[in-house]
Amino acid sequence: MEILDQANQLAALHKDNDPSKDFLPLLGTDYIEFYVGNAKQAAYFYRTAFGFELIAYAGPETGHRGKSSYVVKQDKIVLVFTTSFDPESEISAHVNLHGDGVKVLALWVDDAKKSYEETTKRGAEGLYPPASQKDEFGEIITASIKTYGETIHTFVERKNYKGVFMPGFIATPKDTISKPIGLKYVDHCVGNVGWGEMNKWVKFYEDVMGFKILLTFDDKDISTEYSALMSKVVSNGNGYIKFPINEPAEGKKKSQIEEYIEFYKGAGVQHIAVATDNILETVADMRSRGVEFLVVPESYYEDLLERVGKIDEDVAALRKLNILVDRDPEGYLLQIFTKPVEDRPTVFYEIIQRKGATSFGKGNFKALFESIEREQALRGNL
Ligand code: FE2
Repeated sequence: MEILDQANQLAALHKDNDPSKDFLPLLGTDYIEFYVGNAKQAAYFYRTAFGFELIAYAGPETGHRGKSSYVVKQDKIVLVFTTSFDPESEISAHVNLHGDGVKVLALWVDDAKKSYEETTKRGAEGLYPPASQKDEFGEIITASIKTYGETIHTFVERKNYKGVFMPGFIATPKDTISKPIGLKYVDHCVGNVGWGEMNKWVKFYEDVMGFKILLTFDDKDISTEYSALMSKVVSNGNGYIKFPINEPAEGKKKSQIEEYIEFYKGAGVQHIAVATDNILETVADMRSRGVEFLVVPESYYEDLLERVGKIDEDVAALRKLNILVDRDPEGYLLQIFTKPVEDRPTVFYEIIQRKGATSFGKGNFKALFESIEREQALRGNL
């Protein structure tokens, strides 16, 4: 395991992190936008199953001809679901090729123009140059660059805006069906890229966005009997944005990353990890609303405490909900993964509760990947 000691690495990273020298200061994830076949129904799923609140809408009624977008929110997490009525549009082409998937990983910045200039001058491919949008609540400036696959990063400057989301959107009436489940913020977003492409995209985040490598996992860390993958985690200076990048590795059978690439028809966002302060309640709630999770065998819990040491939670409660635990030098974390949330085996979610740990649950990889492989086998894709 060629793992950089994450505690030291993070400390070094943050010591070096003089915000005045950071050419791309990021304040956090602004929103994540999905292009989908039916935005109204996708938003309804996230409102009922994941407890998001519908806060804003844009569509023909608000002057958006030919498309509609629904904005849902839970604490700091904002998701946008967009669909197009025009079969010739770029949105429809995206949905046709990829199925429902993430188009935009939007980053909250203080200066969108500078973010665009600094990244494009370092080699980012610009997609939309800085543009201002105004309404009675103020001004938003956005600019977008391309990243892996057809995914893009949009820099969002909202310091002069007081509206609910963006110009062009209207606030929706109070959402009476949404009941929050304690999701707080986006912990990390993982990208799957093709064979031999991981280092290229890691270098992109290093060179173009000034990120640093936090962790490296090679195929010996992340392999089961059959399938394998490699992963590197990049993070920005203040650690608010973390992007693990995976690529497939050779195994006896098909890597789960290869299955994703085959069904997404290219590189894209694999999973979004969202944080909670009470994973037992959050997951019990999600299960009662019909969200499906990956299953690990009972044997995972038999020697759990020997592996992770003392924890605050009752093992029987964790076992009942199938929640996993891992420890690193700084503490421990609890995590669980949903099954894909669309029909293609593509995007899924991780629910994570950090109790000091800053890592990603390496100790659970084997159990998890065996679980993913059982699902892959059921789909005839192993
Ligand atoms: Fe993750």
